[in-house]
Amino acid sequence: MSMQISPSILASDFARLADEAATVAAAADWLHVDVMDNHFVPNLTIGLPVVEALLRHASLPLDCHLMIEDPDRWAPAYAEAGAGNVTIHAEAAGSPVRTLRMIRAAGARAGLGINPATPVEPYTGLLPEIDMLLLMTVEPGFGGQPFLDMVLPKVRRARELIARHGGSVWLQVDGGVSEETISRCAEAGADVFVAGSAVFGADDPVAAVKELRALAGAAAAGGRPR
Ligand code: DX5
Ligand code: ZN
Repeated sequence: MSMQISPSILASDFARLADEAATVAAAADWLHVDVMDNHFVPNLTIGLPVVEALLRHASLPLDCHLMIEDPDRWAPAYAEAGAGNVTIHAEAAGSPVRTLRMIRAAGARAGLGINPATPVEPYTGLLPEIDMLLLMTVEPGFGGQPFLDMVLPKVRRARELIARHGGSVWLQVDGGVSEETISRCAEAGADVFVAGSAVFGADDPVAAVKELRALAGAAAAGGRPR
């Protein structure tokens, strides 16, 4: 299982997005874009026009995380614009099957996100409809929050459900992922790691991405990091 790192531009300089994207382009696998609407979460970031502009400048595929109230209405447009992945929240989607299928039909990977207090079991039936399951390891809305260890049993459970399902669904964690917490996430079964402050808050973002991937790989292999 290869470990993927998705730096979140929420922790970058929004006035220099193209430069910030370029900074991690050679080291990261994805660029994580947090779309917040001030309704599903108490914060407001960017929407489709900025994502479209970023798509023209960023070489990494965009991992769009929609923390918005009405993903059924808005998510397909992010896929049509060219995002590599579009994640909608289970708590917000009224018609998740239709929306996830529209995301895939537009050529993007489809992700389903769930908050720390949302159980994963009710969504087992959706595994054939998704390419990635996102387990929030903080309450969504802000970067720089402390990692919630209470989510780790759900990471393990989700990994079991994915294994039983038999498909190749990626398991992403988002929130408080750092050099201190990433090993626990990988050991529990996560394979895609969003990191905002731990990458863009570091003196050397490229070195931070490489270190995070090395720590995750070592933990997943059951060994200790060098
Ligand atoms: C929070 C966002 C995260 C955030 C993570 O709601 O979904 O992607 O950027 O930031 P850190 O890594 O700083 O916790
Ligand atoms: Zn996010």
